[in-house]
Amino acid sequence: MQAPPASAPRALDAGARDRVRSSRGAVEEKGEKRVILGVGTDILNMQRLHDILEAESDSFVRKVFTAREREQAAESPDPVSYYATRFSGKEAVFKCFGIHGNVRLSEIEILDGETGQPYVTLSGQLNGIAADKGIRSVLISLSCENEYAVAFAVAQD
Ligand SMILES: CC(C)(COP(=O)(O)OP(=O)(O)OC[C@H]1O[C@@H](n2cnc3c(N)ncnc32)[C@H](O)[C@@H]1OP(=O)(O)O)[C@@H](O)C(=O)NCCC(=O)NCCS
Repeated sequence: MQAPPASAPRALDAGARDRVRSSRGAVEEKGEKRVILGVGTDILNMQRLHDILEAESDSFVRKVFTAREREQAAESPDPVSYYATRFSGKEAVFKCFGIHGNVRLSEIEILDGETGQPYVTLSGQLNGIAADKGIRSVLISLSCENEYAVAFAVAQD
């Protein structure tokens, strides 16, 4: 019998097996297992948002973004990128709910935390939908490069 190539995966140790089990639907956080209830992703051409901001700046911004998001955007060195990544983030959060129809995107607030990592706060009707679905928190990751913004959201119990 031929020996396995040097790059063959080694047998999993007990800890690694636990990690593999955890990754099937649950993530560990501070010793607590959290179940993933939904994921959502979005990609946005930032030029589209730039054009909307130019054409109907105030009404659009007030409809979609919360007061605290608008404050952070005003302090940001690049407000268009700030709004674009948040808009993409809101769509990703919507998708991780697995629901039909329109929602008020201002009910999804995405702010930068102290380290710069964004965090999601829900309000209004969407908060009620989250409670019904057993969603207790939504994690978000945002990025942008050249003309595109991308976002990935995870809903967990
Ligand atoms: C429905 C919606 C998810 C479509 O997004 P989009 O930017 O037009 O298109 P995207 O390419 O990003 O996403 C399309 C994919 O999302 C997925 N999708 C569609 N409806 C979905 C839903 N209700 N939930 C989760 N995922 C959905 C599908 O995989 C779809 O791919 P397909 O077209 O190949 O089937 C988007 O309009 C949305 O987020 N709506 C809710 C928020 C809202 O009210 N926005 C108003 C804008 S101001």
